[in-house]
Amino acid sequence: MRILLLALVIATVTGFQPRSYVSRSPVAKPPTNTALRDAAADAFVPDMERRNIMNLILVSSAGATIAGLGGPFVAFFYPPGAGGGSAGTAAKDALGNDVTKAGWLATHNVGDHSLTQGLKGDATYLIVKEDKTIEEYGLNAVCTHLGCVVPWVASANKFMCPCHGSQYDFTGKVVRGPAPLSLALAHITYSDTDVITYTPWTETDFRTDLKPWWI
Ligand code: FES
Repeated sequence: MRILLLALVIATVTGFQPRSYVSRSPVAKPPTNTALRDAAADAFVPDMERRNIMNLILVSSAGATIAGLGGPFVAFFYPPGAGGGSAGTAAKDALGNDVTKAGWLATHNVGDHSLTQGLKGDATYLIVKEDKTIEEYGLNAVCTHLGCVVPWVASANKFMCPCHGSQYDFTGKVVRGPAPLSLALAHITYSDTDVITYTPWTETDFRTDLKPWWI
């Protein structure tokens, strides 16, 4: 008994374990050449025809994506069609309705300067002359300095910009800076249904005898 106890103490101190209690981790065997060849044979390798189809799908998808993103990007830099075309752009009132000559003159008096929506959507003055007809041109109300809409001041017979003090005479010609240029002009014509229509003014600016700066 003493011998058995002594053996147990020695085993505890030395960490001895009988052979049958020692666990061994399994050691992975390296793949043989045959196994590698089998794996390679099982791997999927598309043939040339399938690769061509896959490439075609990839290119088509990329093209559609680029077209989808690039179209609006290019359109951003292209001027809206509202400004051109021989048919012109119908003047719109504050409610977005087409403006007719008869309707406008029925509701606007001599000397009236009221805003309509003109070329490219810009605020554009329609002017009622002394003879109760509409002026032959519309005046773009966007200040040529930094783009404020310039009000008509009847008492001064001028357009006077509230932002930085630029002034334009009754024809829209700049007479005081900092605005560098006169207000842009637009031709006025009438459709078969009497709708007032703006078309681009491309001829010499009659106020300055210069080429139009706005085209
Ligand atoms: S925006 Fe009109 S004067 Fe500056």
